[in-house]
Amino acid sequence: MKIVVIGGTGLIGSKLVNKLREHGHEAVAASPNSGVNTVTGEGLAEAVKSASVVVDVSNSPSWEDAAVLKFFETSTRNLLTSEAAAGVGHHVALSVVGTDRLSESGYFRAKIAQEKLIKESSIPYTIVQATQFFEFLKGLADISMVGDKVHVPHALFQPMAADDVATAVGRVAVDAPINGAVEIGGPEQFRIDELVKRRLASLKDPREVIADPNALYSGAKLSERTLVPGNDARLGETRFETWLTQPAAQIPSAPQSTVNKEKESQKKAS
Ligand SMILES: NC(=O)c1ccc[n+]([C@@H]2O[C@H](COP(=O)([O-])OP(=O)(O)OC[C@H]3O[C@@H](n4cnc5c(N)ncnc54)[C@H](OP(=O)(O)O)[C@@H]3O)[C@@H](O)[C@H]2O)c1
Repeated sequence: MKIVVIGGTGLIGSKLVNKLREHGHEAVAASPNSGVNTVTGEGLAEAVKSASVVVDVSNSPSWEDAAVLKFFETSTRNLLTSEAAAGVGHHVALSVVGTDRLSESGYFRAKIAQEKLIKESSIPYTIVQATQFFEFLKGLADISMVGDKVHVPHALFQPMAADDVATAVGRVAVDAPINGAVEIGGPEQFRIDELVKRRLASLKDPREVIADPNALYSGAKLSERTLVPGNDARLGETRFETWLTQPAAQIPSAPQSTVNKEKESQKKAS
């Protein structure tokens, strides 16, 4: 089956493309690097031609409020239009657990807009809402600095390994569309401050982590369970301590682009 992965060069996209190919699918990685741009429309019609499924795991290059909204709205509209013309039977998109509860955040308003366009379109769809990736914890610390200390909320979350995200999205992509959303998460719950502390300790990063009741997440105030998935969530297998022993955990920092994007978004939110 031909499955086009929009954002197929990214963290989740590259893992997803490999997994789909291992299962015998014709997985096509589509992104500006491969001549497919969902914002300008370049290469899009050709890429989705004869595809059964399109999976959107792209992300905006800028997380500034207006830019990220424009990215997800334009990109999703263009994608759905091309898919309708090509007769694509399933649109899968990766979103975030708790998106509806995070509308104080410009980034999450953009994800809400993305989800709305998908729900209103004529293409059968499945939205996969994932919790935070373990790979993002160091980046979260980097963008949560107040002076020389890391200030993060004490709220609960249930993060997961990027590899488990890709596995779950791959399963959804080859299943029938449900015209609804599924939640995926990690096997354990943590306090944000406590896990960021453990991640920094694993990297021998000496920064102090403070549980700050006023700290925002991507510009939004969290309550205790804002980021926690419901009881029906599909859970990944990889526990945090196991992930720490894997090669992915040895990479000390989030990609600089992620840090820049978050800084931009925080500047805007403050
Ligand atoms: N970080 C988290 O903890 C978390 C949690 C839950 C869900 N998510 C969601 O997961 C998704 C993927 O995140 P990620 O970290 O894997 O992203 P990423 O590594 O930043 O990759 C982004 C991808 O988007 C592509 N892209 C950028 N502009 C594009 C355009 N105009 N047209 C087509 N493709 C474009 C990039 O292509 P190039 O390489 O060619 O630039 C790249 O392949 C996001 O939608 C995010 O909301 C993230």
